[in-house]
Amino acid sequence: MTDALGAEAFSLIAAHDGPHAFDAVVPPIAQTSLFTFSSFAEMEETYLGRKVRPTYTRGLNPTVRLFEEKLAALEGAEDAMGFASGMAAISSAVLAFAAPGDRIVAVRHVYPDAYRLFEILLKRMRIEVTYVDGRDEEAVAKALPGARLFYMESPTSWVMEAHDVGALAALAKRHGVMTMIDNSWATPVFQRPLALGVDLVIHSASKYLGGHSDVVAGVVAGSKALIREIRAQTYPYLGGKLSPFDAWLLVRGLRTLPLRMKAHEADALAVARWLKDRPEVESVQHPGLANALPPGLTGTSGLFSFTFRDGVKVPAFADALRLFKLGVSWGGHESLCVPGQVVLSQNQGPNSGHAFGISPRSVRLHVGLEGAASLIADLETAIGAALAA
Ligand SMILES: Cc1ncc(COP(=O)(O)O)c(C=O)c1O
Repeated sequence: MTDALGAEAFSLIAAHDGPHAFDAVVPPIAQTSLFTFSSFAEMEETYLGRKVRPTYTRGLNPTVRLFEEKLAALEGAEDAMGFASGMAAISSAVLAFAAPGDRIVAVRHVYPDAYRLFEILLKRMRIEVTYVDGRDEEAVAKALPGARLFYMESPTSWVMEAHDVGALAALAKRHGVMTMIDNSWATPVFQRPLALGVDLVIHSASKYLGGHSDVVAGVVAGSKALIREIRAQTYPYLGGKLSPFDAWLLVRGLRTLPLRMKAHEADALAVARWLKDRPEVESVQHPGLANALPPGLTGTSGLFSFTFRDGVKVPAFADALRLFKLGVSWGGHESLCVPGQVVLSQNQGPNSGHAFGISPRSVRLHVGLEGAASLIADLETAIGAALAA
């Protein structure tokens, strides 16, 4: 593994901050909704914008700010803003820049709730979204002229289509189209989109940034000017503010991010390679199994999918798993499994899993930190149970 920033510099940013009150090694939490003023003059100075200091946590909170500064450093951004969820980050970023009559271009197979935001809420606001295969640069170039925004995710959810993010960002720049990318899967350890020319980076911090499955949060990083725009256009009004305690958990999570990502990468690759050689498995959707990663992606994480051959009983496989738990989300210490058949049983229209390239024979796995050998043994037992069912 080579990380995008260089292992040593990266670990320093993730691990180091301070000094903190009481010389505490861990930053104390500003778990408060408001901050009081010592005088009329101080309050007025703050209201006039002459003094920057916390007033109310929905606006500025020191613990949230610490997380934002660390994340901005990791992504090589001038600034960042924390949100109450990844979806709050996505919706606030998109709504800050798109207006009725605009058209957005998005790569196909984006995270399903982002897709529903586009297909349900944005449509209602007369914002049109067209979808392109991000691997097809000609198709992207055709779709871009006249668009307001190009929304990317690489690799995409479930089917894991990985893109040349730098090439797509350059195309968008040529057409004067602003770019955003959901970088939750790769994290800045393996992909730093701002250095590749993307304007805004978005994370579901509920995934690897947190890393312990105990927080739901989001973050957007980019230039001071763009972050200021989000802060002015949508942030206070939509109100999806990251809580101080969740920010504190994220700061803790970031300290081990590079280490965890290395472990997720190694173990997921071992599991994916093992699955690829199984006769019951038709294909494995893991970017690390291709001959080469796209430029700019320097490593792979723990989330991927595979597709069973016809006839394998997926419910029996799922029920026989012991270490892999059946559960949504990903990015934590634990290994997880989502059968495509369950996703497809949701209703139709924009909620249909078919829109995301999911097959009833496919299974999404998140490889946690339990160790590849035990996880492979778990899969072997479960495949045996599926064949016997
Ligand atoms: C790729 C991706 N982006 C965004 C999100 C949304 O993040 P959150 O659940 O924190 O709102 C998810 C959640 O699963 C995701 O998988």
